[in-house]
Amino acid sequence: MRKKIVAGNWKMNTSIQEGVELAKAVAAGAAGTPENVGLIVAAPFTHLASVAEVLKGSKVELSAQNCADHEKGAYTGEVSVGMLVSAGCSWTILGHSERRQYYGETDEKLVVKTRLALEAGLGVILCVGENLEQREEGKHFEVVTSQIENVLFNFTAEEMSKIVVAYEPVWAIGTGKTASAEQAEEIHACIRKVLAGKFGEEVAQDTTILYGGSCKPSNAKELFAQEDIDGGLIGGAALKADDFLAIACSY
Ligand code: PGA
Repeated sequence: MRKKIVAGNWKMNTSIQEGVELAKAVAAGAAGTPENVGLIVAAPFTHLASVAEVLKGSKVELSAQNCADHEKGAYTGEVSVGMLVSAGCSWTILGHSERRQYYGETDEKLVVKTRLALEAGLGVILCVGENLEQREEGKHFEVVTSQIENVLFNFTAEEMSKIVVAYEPVWAIGTGKTASAEQAEEIHACIRKVLAGKFGEEVAQDTTILYGGSCKPSNAKELFAQEDIDGGLIGGAALKADDFLAIACSY
């Protein structure tokens, strides 16, 4: 049975002090969320070690939002997977659309980063999703399929057990415009079919596929009720512990 996960992506928000307070509130409320729902918070790099301390002993796992595409060395300003592990992370988000859009993250680079993350023992939340123009041109299935093929087809069925996919339509991120449950479900089902074609039905059925894009307490229940939606990657609503926990309680 695949795992259900609700993950919060704090993006470039909060001071360390605010992040620690937010993590405390999430950790305190985590015990009241359904046992079968895993919780993850993806904090900024600077916050990771402090937030890790706060999360100790709770079921909430820690994630980074990105990692370097090299193991170590002369790459000024970058943060390696080894550093993330030493800060207490067990996950990293990779390929978020904001990174693809603003920082030139390519599928090729994501293959390298995913490999480094897995080798370091991190789980990977790989984001995929079409932008508005691609959706309007009816290319959404094609775009998402090629992102999945370009990155994940380089890995083995065994490695897939450490990878979570997050479908995040770019036009729904931070816009208040959520994909309808039907729109999300048809892409999630498509992703699972593409994975089944490459890795077999069992791996596809075991892969957690999250929805992200203006997910909030008021729409999470309907989204999570879909057969192929296994939880959410939450941006804005993850900055309020109550909202984040309420989303986790939508199962
Ligand atoms: P949002 O962001 O929930 O604020 O739309 C989701 C994400 O980008 O992960």
